[in-house]
Amino acid sequence: MFVLAHLSDPHLSAIPRPRLSELAGKRALGLVNWQLRRRHEHRAEVLDALLDDLAAQAPDHIAVTGDLVNVALPGEFASARAFLSRLGPPEAVSFVPGNHDAYVRAALAHSHAHWRHYLAGDEAEPDAAAPTFPYLRRRGPVVLIGVSTALPTGPFMATGRIGADQMKRLDHVLARLAKEDVFRVVLLHHPPTTRPGDRLKRLIDADSFRQVLRRHGAGLVLFGHIHMTSVTWLDGPECLIPAVSVASASATERGDEPAGYHLFRISAEDGAWRCEMVTRGFAAGEAGIAERRRCVLAPPPRAVTWAAR
Ligand SMILES: [Fe+2]
Ligand SMILES: [Fe+2]
Repeated sequence: MFVLAHLSDPHLSAIPRPRLSELAGKRALGLVNWQLRRRHEHRAEVLDALLDDLAAQAPDHIAVTGDLVNVALPGEFASARAFLSRLGPPEAVSFVPGNHDAYVRAALAHSHAHWRHYLAGDEAEPDAAAPTFPYLRRRGPVVLIGVSTALPTGPFMATGRIGADQMKRLDHVLARLAKEDVFRVVLLHHPPTTRPGDRLKRLIDADSFRQVLRRHGAGLVLFGHIHMTSVTWLDGPECLIPAVSVASASATERGDEPAGYHLFRISAEDGAWRCEMVTRGFAAGEAGIAERRRCVLAPPPRAVTWAAR
């Protein structure tokens, strides 16, 4: 049994005071949004409680699917590195960036400088100038395939893109791994399907991503960005693939859904993979963290979408 934890979108709340030169363009709007709304939705004490609960569960590995920071000020990246270190060493924590981690073009260099060991595949050169996506990390029976969808966008936009080159590499990687007896987990920040009304925050090349999955399959797709628990079933070559999102790890009741995380208990049974999903977190109107749901992710007879808890 291999236990993989998934958390996302902590939007760490320690935002340092910006210099005037750092307030150009999108950052100024983002800081206003933080002051008026987001700082009430994302709280450090909520995240603290969640991380204590997660540590007590002692998973074998932790996947974090982006949005560690808010407006990508240089000082936010060091705090976020401390957050990753608290989760565990780079060998035990796999991270993919979100749109807030690439809020402005300069963020990419900070991300690489502070977080590169959490973004590096098993075969990565230690002094590589930039991370290569998708990365591959083999942990027990699981292979984690980290995809980056993060890119700087204009004001009021939160779209993501995998891009043609990365998509081609992903296609090859999934095809190659399909021949091995491993459980493939694809990590990305943006959702592989777009909900009505989410056009400005969608994954632009989601259709191509789903085509790659339809050709080569995967055991599980994990994503963040929407700050809600959801399970969507995607087409695969032999059976449907569960794509699972999670609530923000720091969300209060004023957020989209109170904070939570998932545990996936992955095992091989009678020649087939079995994946049980456990949701732990807060619930509206209740104090404290508890198990909220437990189910086996078995493909339904046809594609369905299920959301909210
Ligand atoms: Fe987010
Ligand atoms: Fe996001």
